[in-house]
Amino acid sequence: MSITAIAHPNIALSKYWGKREGAGNFPAVPSLSVTLRGMATRTRVAFDPELRADRFVLDGHEADGTRVTALLDRVRGAMGAPRFAEVVSQNDFPTASGLASSASGFAALAVAATRAAGLDWDAAQVSDLARASSASAARSIFGGFVELAAGERAASVVAPAEHLDLYVVVAVASEAKKATGSTDGMRRTAATSPYYAAWLEDAPRTHARLRAALLAKDFSAMGELAEASAMAMHASAIAAGIVYWNPATLAALSTVRELRAAGTAVYATIDAGPHVKVLALGARDAGIAAAALSAAPGVLRVFETRPGAAAHVEAAP
Ligand code: DP6
Repeated sequence: MSITAIAHPNIALSKYWGKREGAGNFPAVPSLSVTLRGMATRTRVAFDPELRADRFVLDGHEADGTRVTALLDRVRGAMGAPRFAEVVSQNDFPTASGLASSASGFAALAVAATRAAGLDWDAAQVSDLARASSASAARSIFGGFVELAAGERAASVVAPAEHLDLYVVVAVASEAKKATGSTDGMRRTAATSPYYAAWLEDAPRTHARLRAALLAKDFSAMGELAEASAMAMHASAIAAGIVYWNPATLAALSTVRELRAAGTAVYATIDAGPHVKVLALGARDAGIAAAALSAAPGVLRVFETRPGAAAHVEAAP
């Protein structure tokens, strides 16, 4: 049977950076993200007894399927049938550029593969499957504001998408594929950054305060903590020689600081790439942020997104 699933990227407000020692891909720190609407990965999985190997097509091109096959192997283990699959995946945003394509990619794959295999798994089991491939993907199984505790198998919902009138304004700082993937970036940070221990110590505290601010709907406290989490994550990475930023990143960050100094409550966050994602409460402030970021030197384009829905199987046409 062929199943198509849709999943959305998420942006972490408190960041996951670093893994626990040992197998299983468990994050070393808790994280809290918001699933985004507007951007999507659409993935079709078909198990086929005729195939002699898995086949993976990403954005129209045959691609390296090593991590796809690793997830499919876990599904095959549960289904008890050694069938290979064809996986066809399409992103409607640039792949591997720090717009979180691995999160939506593995979330869509986990949903489509388990359903195509006939497994009747709940969202927590699917989230666990996605986490083992890419921990941020565990969060994209759910909609709204989502948490993945350190050492937990699955993510869980902290608050629904409508909890806050949140806008995420994305300032695209490059269309290029990033040089260092997040798996490698966090491995090198853990191995060589003199600030990694400080990151591990601070991240759970920042996370707990951010979670409380979110639940209290204290947007400015939440925004400040989100920005602090991103800065601490990048500081730890930069100290290991891993710099995801480019000049447009810095221009966008200054724009956010200038807006704040002028009284607009906007806050920046950055994942393992150069783009700056700006958090704003309400359409008015989001509009102000979008206009200012569009004028920032080097920013290629700006788009607005909002909290979005859980990963799901696409309804039959
Ligand atoms: C900076 O989930 O891509 O986006 O588990 O190794 O696949 P792996 O890492 P990944 O890391 C995401 C890092 C981040 C922060 C975050 O999303 O929490």
